[in-house]
Amino acid sequence: MAKVTAAAHPNIAFIKYWGRVDPELNLAANPSLSMNLGALTTVTTVEFCADQSVDVVIIDNEPATGQALARVVAHLDRTRALGAIQHRAHVVSRNGFPAGTGLASSAAGFAALSLAATRAAGLNLDEAALSRLARMASGSACRSVPAGFCLWEGDSHESSFARQVAPPDHWDLRDVVAVVSYKHKAVGSYDGHKWAPTSPLYAARVAAVPALLDAVQKGIQERCLDTMGPAAETDALAMHAVMMTSQPGLLYWAAATVTVLQAVRAWRAEGLRIYFTMDAGPNVHCLCDPLEASEVERRLRDLEGVLDVLSSGPGGGVRLVEDHLF
Ligand code: PMV
Repeated sequence: MAKVTAAAHPNIAFIKYWGRVDPELNLAANPSLSMNLGALTTVTTVEFCADQSVDVVIIDNEPATGQALARVVAHLDRTRALGAIQHRAHVVSRNGFPAGTGLASSAAGFAALSLAATRAAGLNLDEAALSRLARMASGSACRSVPAGFCLWEGDSHESSFARQVAPPDHWDLRDVVAVVSYKHKAVGSYDGHKWAPTSPLYAARVAAVPALLDAVQKGIQERCLDTMGPAAETDALAMHAVMMTSQPGLLYWAAATVTVLQAVRAWRAEGLRIYFTMDAGPNVHCLCDPLEASEVERRLRDLEGVLDVLSSGPGGGVRLVEDHLF
């Protein structure tokens, strides 16, 4: 059978997905909206092989084991069921950025795996069907399927997928990421989503989403950072408040996280147009204009505890590439 390779970008959500109404199907408790990060790429090659008795999965040059392997095998099983094939697969995936630090490697990885595996199985899904399939593996992966700025909404398997609200060239917004840790996070989002409803703040955050989402959508439409930034900051902090107050509680922040958050607000008070958001990890994503991105990067590098700085504009959707990884 054919060997197929796909590339995808991680995405950063301005309105977050945190909490599920259906854990089997990954149906989200609230709509979310993100931008693909064009400078960061995951590439995945898949081949279904008649002579293999198990799925072999290599991620960043290491054989996958435990939960990481189980999630990939479960996704290959979904693909095998769709394509009515039995063969086990050889999968090799490479992240061009640190995995497991809240940089959404699972989103890019499962978007790329969805396209590569379905094509390798002889299927040709349209964008909505591919997004729906990616969602089953990792909710946020559905938003890495379309290009640019993507909205994921819907409350049933059929209606729950991501679609583009603006193409990548609509707005050259920059995400300058302050990396404060390379450590693999101890608790992943799978458990976090499950625990979210135990927080006394959960219902309040979900109820606050529609108004914040309106502000973010308006900000994107009008290319106005000062309209979308405050809403994105509020939702990121609300999500982390839910994480911190769930049972068990999740505290993803490092000391340097707080240093960066405080610096962003101080720089904004001085006139720099900059807002922060964060995913399930200690790193801080700073949203700014391209004209101010190198100044933001320079200032972030000077802060104590900042190990590296990555910078990205909007990126395209999942796509096929010619260079196979094996
Ligand atoms: O897709 P998951 O299950 O890895 O959850 C993603 C959760 C956040 O990154 C924290 C928020 C989001 O919407 O991307």
